Amino acid sequence: MALVSVKEMLTKAFANGYAVGQFNINNLEWTKAILTTAQEMNSPVILGVSEGAAKYMTGYKTVVAMCAAMIDSLKITVPVAIHLDHGTYEGALKAIEAGFPSIMFDGSSLPIAENIAKTTELVALCQAKGLSIEAEVGPIGGEEDGVHGKGEQADPEECAKIAALGVTILAAGIGNIHGIYPPNWQGLDFERLAAIKRRVPAVPLVLHGGTGIPDEMIKHAISLGVAKINVNTECQLVFAAATRKYIEAGKDLDHKGKGFDPRKLLAPGYEAIKASVKEKINLFGSANRA
Ligand code: 13P
Repeated sequence: MALVSVKEMLTKAFANGYAVGQFNINNLEWTKAILTTAQEMNSPVILGVSEGAAKYMTGYKTVVAMCAAMIDSLKITVPVAIHLDHGTYEGALKAIEAGFPSIMFDGSSLPIAENIAKTTELVALCQAKGLSIEAEVGPIGGEEDGVHGKGEQADPEECAKIAALGVTILAAGIGNIHGIYPPNWQGLDFERLAAIKRRVPAVPLVLHGGTGIPDEMIKHAISLGVAKINVNTECQLVFAAATRKYIEAGKDLDHKGKGFDPRKLLAPGYEAIKASVKEKINLFGSANRA
């Protein structure tokens, strides 16, 4: 199956009360782990690509070519989207030119008028090319003693303005945070999510910062219109932990004198990512929805 945009899979998820996971990729091993797990679970999947990860993998064209070739050679039949994660305006244009079927333009740090202007331009471009686009509405408030205990909080009115531009999906802060949640985190703000949903009833919502949110909160968020959940840090953590364990057990030295085999060194991390993605697909409810 060729790479697809997120539109169809997320429209289906939104209508049927489940979410599709976006798992960020960094290299061949991560991509293969996520693709093979989605196939085993018969689940649609989104491969998230940050600008930094795209640069690391030598550019957007390499990412598109690697993912397309891997889908073919691994005989992946479930729907797979590649999606630019937190793209700048320039990054979005480059990803589109390289063949990304789906992009996120993150204008959340811009003044709302500029976010609207740039999102409007990119929506027109994506619509003309049949691509999907995720926009983000600026975070408000939330710092206490230098620790963001409340997380990002989007303004429902601004969400309505950005959604009305014709975006495919909308990322709106409801107390979520990228990376590890601080000990004083107050949890997802379901009142805010419900308020956003009232103002934006027809656009699937995206929950960033999917690492470390309690399962019950994830399920509640899905019931209130979240149809895409982004996970990155968790894959990094399990990959690092599995690799560390392997090295600390001295197993990377098995071939001392005969050369070093990076495929063996990366295997435990690969399996750890597969287990983590499997768990998330079960939690998000996208298994057997391909
Ligand atoms: P985490 O790194 O917290 O899982 O968040 C990922 C994300 O939201 C990417 O956009």
